[in-house]
Amino acid sequence: MRQTLEELQKKAADEIEAASSREEFLALRTRYLGRKGFLTDVLRKLKDVPPEEKPLLGKLSNDIKKTISERIDRAIEHLDSEGKSDILLKETIDVTLPGRRTKYGKIHPVTRVMGEICEIFSILGFSIAEGPEVELDYYNFEALNIPPDHPARDMHDTFYVTDNIVLRTHTSPVQIRTMEKQDPPVRIISPGKVYRPDSDISHTPMFHQVEGLLVDKGITFGDLKGVLTYFLRHVFGKETVLRFRPSYFPFTEPSAEVDIRCVMCGGAGCRVCGQGGWIEILGSGMVDPEVFKVVGYDPEEYSGFAFGLGVERIAMLKYGISDIRLFFEGDLRFLEQF
Ligand code: PHE
Repeated sequence: MRQTLEELQKKAADEIEAASSREEFLALRTRYLGRKGFLTDVLRKLKDVPPEEKPLLGKLSNDIKKTISERIDRAIEHLDSEGKSDILLKETIDVTLPGRRTKYGKIHPVTRVMGEICEIFSILGFSIAEGPEVELDYYNFEALNIPPDHPARDMHDTFYVTDNIVLRTHTSPVQIRTMEKQDPPVRIISPGKVYRPDSDISHTPMFHQVEGLLVDKGITFGDLKGVLTYFLRHVFGKETVLRFRPSYFPFTEPSAEVDIRCVMCGGAGCRVCGQGGWIEILGSGMVDPEVFKVVGYDPEEYSGFAFGLGVERIAMLKYGISDIRLFFEGDLRFLEQF
């Protein structure tokens, strides 16, 4: 038995010497020291040896067990520390390399211009009113003095959801909703998304508008001119030249479209202004008495003005963008410039 043990020790030592990977060491431990291992096997036979030999053999086998176990432990430890230094070597940092830049998100140009417009009007005392984008025909058209067969409906190509529900074609319905709920004085702007089935270099099926409404006693066309002049000179610069051109909207009377002297050519005529020297920038007018009647305001007592503008159009002029679709393509090369 003693001989068997010694042979076992020698064999184990050789095999440990020969092994090189963690897996091999672990397998050796099982093979020699495990429950069905060689050494356990020998120890089991210890009960058959003569009693006087037992203490010695018992001690010998325990010593061998301890030795093998320690050797395997040491070998694994050695492997681990080697692995760590390998990793440390590979992971050295070259502190002279330039850093990687963090990318910052930017505010979308439309959002930015929208914010600017809202800020200017809030300085003038207007508050913000919002309403649904899926709107009743009543608020989008009828209450604004556009009955079903009115030719003005042609001005607004419309997405119909059902016969009497539309995607709003302007944010004017918010003005009706506000006046229904509130007595004068009213001083609001309504920014938001609007929809018209149009798509080309200057139209997208969804775009943004800001419309405004001011109602009080004694409001005149002079107030309209004053507020819009203040506004446009804030957006396009102090020297901006304006022109109020007679126009027609069913919900305002009289109505005017407001042009600015072309920001690109200064009025000489270019591609942006279609050689005319002027750029149409917003629609406006004195609220039609018919609209006041619909919401229960007395047109004898109150008067007011309203206006509406397209946000993308203003952003295009401000930043010199020639195709409106660029705003909605999500191309970072475009967006990163703002
Ligand atoms: N609602 C009009 C449009 O979207 C703009 C407008 C608003 C015109 C208020 C006059 C007064 O075209």
